[in-house]
Amino acid sequence: MSSYDVIIIGSGPGGYVSAIRCAQLGLKTACVEGRETLGGTCLNVGCIPSKALLHATHMLHEAEHNFADMGLKGKSPSVDWAQMQTYKQNTIDTNTKGIEFLFKKNKIDWIKGWATIPEAGKVKVGDEVHEAKNIIIATGSEPASLPGVEVDETVVVTSTGALSLNKVPKKLVVIGAGVIGLELGSVYARLGTEVTVVEYLDAITPGMDGEVQKNFMRILKKQGVNFVMGAAVQGTEASKTKAKVTYKLRKDDSEHTLDADVVLVSTGRKPFHDGLGLESLGVELTKRGQIAVNDTWETSVKGIYAIGDVIEGPMLAHKAEDEGMAAAEVVAGKHGHVNYGVIPGVIYTHPEVANVGATEEQLKEEGRAYKVGKFSFMGNARAKAVFAGEGFVKLIADKETDRILGAHIIGPGAGDLIHEVCVAMEFGASAEDLAMTCHAHPTYSEAVREAALACGDGAIHM
Ligand code: NAI
Repeated sequence: MSSYDVIIIGSGPGGYVSAIRCAQLGLKTACVEGRETLGGTCLNVGCIPSKALLHATHMLHEAEHNFADMGLKGKSPSVDWAQMQTYKQNTIDTNTKGIEFLFKKNKIDWIKGWATIPEAGKVKVGDEVHEAKNIIIATGSEPASLPGVEVDETVVVTSTGALSLNKVPKKLVVIGAGVIGLELGSVYARLGTEVTVVEYLDAITPGMDGEVQKNFMRILKKQGVNFVMGAAVQGTEASKTKAKVTYKLRKDDSEHTLDADVVLVSTGRKPFHDGLGLESLGVELTKRGQIAVNDTWETSVKGIYAIGDVIEGPMLAHKAEDEGMAAAEVVAGKHGHVNYGVIPGVIYTHPEVANVGATEEQLKEEGRAYKVGKFSFMGNARAKAVFAGEGFVKLIADKETDRILGAHIIGPGAGDLIHEVCVAMEFGASAEDLAMTCHAHPTYSEAVREAALACGDGAIHM
């Protein structure tokens, strides 16, 4: 039996980051992971592989649509799907091996296998029981199931199967117009697949700024993605190579079917904590099945903490990472903090979509007076030079104090641009603070400054 100051269960972005921080703070640390490789969903079957496919197919799109206009003539590249999968796998491998290296560097023990917690202070993996003064659960999430839809990961797939299809499908039906459906829908649309997204609500990407939702949908339609909105999927019927999706339109209850070679089910994820033995330990859950924690990420059982997708809040790798670091600080007897008001969200389509803080819709509901500064990428020289003039930056600030309350960006590099607004918000900055900061020309970031200027006396290039 080995004993540790802390054992972290799960090595996704929440777990591995937490383990590294624990080790840096001088704690004897182990991390339990049952997969063959470290990194969890994000590195193995989520964020990282999808970004590889998004990058490769974006390059294809550029070659097909913009190369000739730039004077780059010649045949468009053809798609070698097997090689694209190899590229994706190499990207995964270098990243998961990187975590292994960081574990060694920080002297973190990787306990291989699936963990249970027989009692507080003990973690069992296989036949071995390890002692731990503290346990941090970081077991993540899994795709939520949909009644009437049976996933086989070949014809009816979740994001995991969609990243590794054995060939590019002719017809793809995506159930759910959330982040996963739109990112992977984009990948296949660029590869020439006929993509139809079936969404229950009347708008895509629930919870996002309304104007972004409308513009994003218009841009995706232009890229060839079809949408059936206000449609509740009733079920799927699949053979070995084909599937039928049945949905009912909410407006008139009429029933319709769609044929597909592949169906992607992307209707949300749910916390994953099977097999840990939480019930017999008396660890309380929320009504939605998440592990309930207090403001120091401790569960109802002393010495057992939980972070990331398995607890409340947005299911985002970076939110899990922040909680992982904060919980490590708490376990080490320090003060851990996460500012839940400043957690950015990014969709890695082209153009990218990014947001942080409040939407106009939320502020209206709260009855808070606000002002909006908006700037179109059509006024940004750099964006126009690279055929990326579509989209805008929208900055929202308090009407009286000018304090920045949120930002919503659709456009080139939005996922990186959002962070200057995040930093500004962390410092409690005003729109004027951003507007008075010199931004290099020509960069996309000038559009953020222009939106900040538009909150005051006006943008220059509009
Ligand atoms: P989601 O919650 O983002 O979207 C699910 C969509 O499915 C919703 O629009 C919902 O209205 C719709 N839906 C539900 N039931 C339906 C039905 N019966 N018929 C038709 N439509 C239906 O879920 P998604 O895309 O699966 O993502 C899961 C989680 O993973 C999210 O929390 C997301 O934030 C996270 N994620 C984040 C990424 C990023 O940050 N870039 C990338 C991938 C996932």
